[in-house]
Amino acid sequence: MSRPGPKSFAIKSYGCQMNVYDGQRMGELLEAQGLTSAEVDQKPDLIILNTCHIREKAAEKVYSDVGRIMKNAEGDKPLIAVAGCVAQAEGAEIGVRAPAVDIIVGPQSYHRLPELIGEASAGRQALDTDMPAQSKFGSLPDRRRRSPTAFLTVQEGCDKFCTYCVVPYTRGAEVSRPWAAIIDEAKALVDAGACEITLLGQNVNAWAGTDQKGIEQGLDGLIRALDRLSGLERIRYTTSHPNDMTDGLIAAHGEVAKLMPFLHLPVQSGSDAILKAMNRSHDGTSYERIIDRVRAVRPDIAISGDFIVGFPGESDADFTATMRLIERVRYAQAFSFKYSPRPGTPAATMDEQIPMAVMDERLQQLQALLNTQQQAFNEASIGIATSALIERDGKHPGQRIGKSPWLQSVVIETDAIPGTLLNVRIVSAGPNSLGGEPTQNIERRHVA
Ligand code: 5AD
Ligand code: SF4
Repeated sequence: MSRPGPKSFAIKSYGCQMNVYDGQRMGELLEAQGLTSAEVDQKPDLIILNTCHIREKAAEKVYSDVGRIMKNAEGDKPLIAVAGCVAQAEGAEIGVRAPAVDIIVGPQSYHRLPELIGEASAGRQALDTDMPAQSKFGSLPDRRRRSPTAFLTVQEGCDKFCTYCVVPYTRGAEVSRPWAAIIDEAKALVDAGACEITLLGQNVNAWAGTDQKGIEQGLDGLIRALDRLSGLERIRYTTSHPNDMTDGLIAAHGEVAKLMPFLHLPVQSGSDAILKAMNRSHDGTSYERIIDRVRAVRPDIAISGDFIVGFPGESDADFTATMRLIERVRYAQAFSFKYSPRPGTPAATMDEQIPMAVMDERLQQLQALLNTQQQAFNEASIGIATSALIERDGKHPGQRIGKSPWLQSVVIETDAIPGTLLNVRIVSAGPNSLGGEPTQNIERRHVA
């Protein structure tokens, strides 16, 4: 059945920050086509579910969401698009399992959304999960999002093939965006009001390219170029792989004033046997050595990580090795997950899958330790004079929420508008946020 083209849309993004970025770019593309942005509960004509396939639970959400949309539609069904990594991994199967889905579009082909919407409006289920050689970025409109913080994807895909992970299959091989495209996008974001840019990539520190003079550069070169961009105050990057922590990138943490003292460096496990079975191509010692070297140039750096408990074959001793590594590294924050077997990955068919009850118990212990460390890191911030980049209103009138250089949320009584880089003194610390008071004079914790 054909229908008029949609006039309004809503996008719901799950999973990683790269999906958030893709969601923003899809939104900008649709706005450039004349559609209006709305919330899902405002009953827009088109709903895009920008999905995540990394763990089973995340992947299953799409089907319950489609069910919920249909239930709320009361006969007035919107166009439903499934984008992101579930679309890439499951393709046409999604349409079989959820016939209400009109459009299936992968992370490398969403620049074709306008045509796909046209097809779907004409009553045909539209599918595009190609990974074209020509990058989607060239076909997307310029950035126009106004926000004090912005994401900028510089690299996509992964060649590392960790044995548990679907990313190399859903996002494809490692590709770096060209230098000039990144610098231009950063300038557009700053012109639109961004004071902080987070460079994104599945393996962001594998970024490689040549600068405008034809000189080969790594991520550190890109960061140094962005450091010279006036109006930009803060630079972050995520997610990194230990094997791509080059000498230059480590040095940048001690030298580049705008590079924030925060490093998300997943290790996954502290057991060398498990790291080997995961095909991580680093061991616990080499990981800790990187942390030591970053701390040597930037002593106050906040370290963040990802952990998986219950990888096939993980013994009590392997798990204890992870706990010991965490104790030595001292994390400011971290993400931890129960191992989830993903179809098509080598680990899914390995012997000795770990029972759920064991995984639950290990995850609880690990998270208790990480929570203690996060609280300790936050408490150590009390008394420090630093800056907070104001992002949004707080819960109570007169409150704003900003971010510290160490990525902690800071609740401040102030009327400073979003985008203000406010001098503050940290006066209190909870598990997930700090309390801050505005100050006049700022003495920074770190002297590079
Ligand atoms: N099961 C559990 N966690 C996983 N991750 C990736 N794949 C899996 C999986 N199959 C975690 C890793 C990675 C983060 C993004 O998600 O810790 O760093
Ligand atoms: Fe997945 Fe490993 Fe690549 Fe990270 S490095 S995206 S965990 S395969």
